[in-house]
Amino acid sequence: MRDAAETIAGKPDADLAADLGARLLAWYDRHARAMPWRVGPAERAAGVRPDPYRVWLSEVMLQQTTVAAVRDYFHRFTVRWPDVAALAAAQDAEVMAEWAGLGYYARARNLLKCARAVAERGGFPGTRDGLLELPGIGPYTAAAVASIAWDEPAAVVDGNVERVVSRLFAVETPLPAAKPQLVALAEALTPQDRPGDHAQAMMDLGATICTPKSPACGICPLVDLCQARAQGIAADLPRKLAKPAKPVRQGVVWALRQPEGWVLERRPERGLLGGMLGLPGDAWDGTGGPAPAEAPWQRLGEVRHTFTHFHLILQVLAAEAAPGPLARGEIVPFRDFRLDSLPTVMRKALSLAQSALSPR
Ligand code: ADE
Repeated sequence: MRDAAETIAGKPDADLAADLGARLLAWYDRHARAMPWRVGPAERAAGVRPDPYRVWLSEVMLQQTTVAAVRDYFHRFTVRWPDVAALAAAQDAEVMAEWAGLGYYARARNLLKCARAVAERGGFPGTRDGLLELPGIGPYTAAAVASIAWDEPAAVVDGNVERVVSRLFAVETPLPAAKPQLVALAEALTPQDRPGDHAQAMMDLGATICTPKSPACGICPLVDLCQARAQGIAADLPRKLAKPAKPVRQGVVWALRQPEGWVLERRPERGLLGGMLGLPGDAWDGTGGPAPAEAPWQRLGEVRHTFTHFHLILQVLAAEAAPGPLARGEIVPFRDFRLDSLPTVMRKALSLAQSALSPR
């Protein structure tokens, strides 16, 4: 992969890369953020090795999600499933319920597939190439785990690292077209010594100092090496192609309460909220139907939720039903039901139904 960097304009020479890397690690040694899955620089120097299971789990959770949001999920997962064999043996529905609220549910389905493949082969493969052969592991996760858990000098490029690198080298090409250039530059910066700490230092720098809107250049350990800072354009990078506005979709869900529980439905494996439990509804295509026959339905109002590619306005209809056969879904008894086992949009809709229907 070094060859790719050779062709990149502005590639750092070995001296610059060494200087920058040494300063970054010195900064990390003092300022590394404490995280439940992280082996900090002092412990690492004392010979403590990160657990690849915890590194992998945290990296999957952290994709598209902040450290603050991940902490509690990581804690619950690792208490309940302390190693990859335990996770591999879990029921799909249990894992989906624990993941509920983190979003991007394909990650949870892929997590389980990967855990089962790892358990089957008797443990994680010890290299990035080995990880890439597992189901549900992409280039980012493979590089992050190999680097952090095994100190393989793989470049780890997430949104934070894209920002740091685009500024250091004043890369003005907009994302996503700039991605290969940013990866090549990140590779050229990756040291043979302590590559795992280097990767985590780049991410911490991006998250705490080289932030999107107003970077704290005054306290940055790399400030005098930063080309964007020298040109006065740090806060404008990385440039991004304007995203198309998100369309608004309309949908309906039916909150049906039976004497012993709520009627819920597991969504198909493929597609939005795949594999998650939720309220039955229309296809969120504005048609509103076909409504189940258990009327009379009471209109409770709407809830709003934003997904990656659209905004959703969801009408919530509710009804009390006598016991009887169901057209759709299954009865989840009140004693087994936890609102936080539902994805966020369904929590919003069901909370509305809980507060609007008379208490029982
Ligand atoms: N974001 C994603 N993974 C991270 C890590 N290992 N350290 C800091 N921030 C991260």
